[in-house]
Amino acid sequence: MAADAAAHAPARRGGTFLSLEGVDGCGKSTQARALAERLRAAGLDVVSVREPGGTALGEKIRGILLDPANGAMCDECELLLYEASRAQLVREVIEPALARGAVVVCDRYLDSTFAYQAGGRGLDAGLVRSCNALGSCGVLPDRTLVLDMPAREALGRAVGASGGADRIEAAGLAFQRRVRDAYLGLAQEDPARVRVVDASGTPDEVARRVDEALAGLGLPVGEGVRHG
Ligand code: TYD
Repeated sequence: MAADAAAHAPARRGGTFLSLEGVDGCGKSTQARALAERLRAAGLDVVSVREPGGTALGEKIRGILLDPANGAMCDECELLLYEASRAQLVREVIEPALARGAVVVCDRYLDSTFAYQAGGRGLDAGLVRSCNALGSCGVLPDRTLVLDMPAREALGRAVGASGGADRIEAAGLAFQRRVRDAYLGLAQEDPARVRVVDASGTPDEVARRVDEALAGLGLPVGEGVRHG
């Protein structure tokens, strides 16, 4: 490998990388927080992050991305801003955490970009995958959970909860349906990594399904482990 390529290759990892995904309002952030708590309670070193954001630079990019005043933003600009935020998060937080053996719980990651910018916005899927390869610095989650629910139900919750739509939520129901379909396609394509979790029911019911979907990773959740 050339010296340059080696310098940019993902660091060796001893930790576990988990990402939670889904359409706006699916309850993913609540589940990401609760999962991180369960893992911490089991004594693990857990790092919780969210996208876009998660670093000082990334939070500034988040502000630009979600500001309804930025309605003129073109799809390509949007794609690159998500990738820019991600690259900073990977280099500054995720890689070091994995290298020291932590569990990283990420509220959205590169599958969001595929679902929203390729599925939702309609950008070329191959192009978005290439951008994802760069923005993720080649670091993929060990397991990705797609919290799935009908787009209409989820969008109603998202807009109701925040008292108004942000720039992405304002794209509407047909957009969120395309996002959901793209997520389901990803799960079919890569079932070893991407698992669909039914997001209907109470938070506790969903949490149980989340733990089940993490089986096989050697984490102290799921089968045989009581929920506290
Ligand atoms: P946020 O308020 O964090 O929504 P949620 O709680 O549903 O995660 O806003 C993030 C928005 O950005 C959300 O609508 C999804 C969108 N998004 C993309 O379009 N592409 C991406 O790559 C990422 C990470 C998020």
